[in-house]
Amino acid sequence: MHFSTPRNIMFGRGSVKNIERYLGKKCVIVTGKHTWENVKDLIPIDAPVLFVTRHKWKEPSQKDAEVLAENIREHSPDTIIAVGGGSVIDTAKVAWIIYENPEISWNALYSYNIPELRKKARFIAIETTSGTGSGVSAAAIILDEEGKKRGVVSGELIPDLAIYDANFVEGMPRDVALYSGMDALSQAIEAYISTVDNIIGDTLALKAIELIYKNLPKALEKEDRAIENVHHGNMLAGMGFANSRLCLGHAAAHSLGGEYKIEHGKIVAILLPYIIRANEKHTPKVKEIAKLLGVKDLARAIWKMNDELGIPHAVDIKDEDIEMLGEEIANDRLMKYNPRKMSKEDVIKMLRLLREGVLDEI
Ligand SMILES: [Fe+2]
Repeated sequence: MHFSTPRNIMFGRGSVKNIERYLGKKCVIVTGKHTWENVKDLIPIDAPVLFVTRHKWKEPSQKDAEVLAENIREHSPDTIIAVGGGSVIDTAKVAWIIYENPEISWNALYSYNIPELRKKARFIAIETTSGTGSGVSAAAIILDEEGKKRGVVSGELIPDLAIYDANFVEGMPRDVALYSGMDALSQAIEAYISTVDNIIGDTLALKAIELIYKNLPKALEKEDRAIENVHHGNMLAGMGFANSRLCLGHAAAHSLGGEYKIEHGKIVAILLPYIIRANEKHTPKVKEIAKLLGVKDLARAIWKMNDELGIPHAVDIKDEDIEMLGEEIANDRLMKYNPRKMSKEDVIKMLRLLREGVLDEI
């Protein structure tokens, strides 16, 4: 077994003030326009600011990363500081590879065979949402030319420094806080139940589940301590899933979110009770989580949480899509980490219940 994580992580409110000791001589900041408005006063450095285009429900595209790489090159920095949610950090990671290796092809980028980085720049990530874990992970998600989600994955992509300072998430609109928090919860639960028994990753995931489940409702009410607990839960969930992997929830979210243009955090939140139900008889870990949270039926507890937070229970899946979706999800590469081996028919059964909004035996 093996556990990878950033060399340095700073966390706690105000921790960003120590960033200076990790900086080179020439920094650039990569961020989103809206995010920057909220957080610019928190960053104690003066450096050129480059913006990543934000698309409504979509991840950034290859083109976005290429444009950003070009902008980075103009400044020839030795430190790239990505400030944002997952899409900003992911685009910055991919642009960083292109900045260091201008000749690299997209095929090579998707081949899981990324050349050594840090010949030109180190990489710092400051997460401004509580849900992506991109600050501690080895992955970046990007849309290819056909608009399909692709992963660029390599240990090289783990940032040199990740900062989880809850002051950066204060400005999140409720929806972003809600859905990024539910994404982190789903990532933690999937990481814990997945077939990869990475004891370090699983330990972090379990603590993340507890922190997020117990604090998210209060964080949405803007309670300071709860906001910080969820943000730290997000950090732990990120380290958990980066090492213990994800399973059915994210496999299904990739297909359904893409097909029906539902934002990632929302679709994983809707799916979460169903994927627990589908797996609970196939791993003792669901019961372990339920015990930790003091609930009898974990799927039902998450269902109730969704109810109280205003998250829908159903997805309007079209009849003509159900076969194709069942096949795509059953064959998703994340399904090899799912505790239950699921056939296309098993997945279709789950999708039918999801369509009706009924949490039944799957
Ligand atoms: Fe996610």
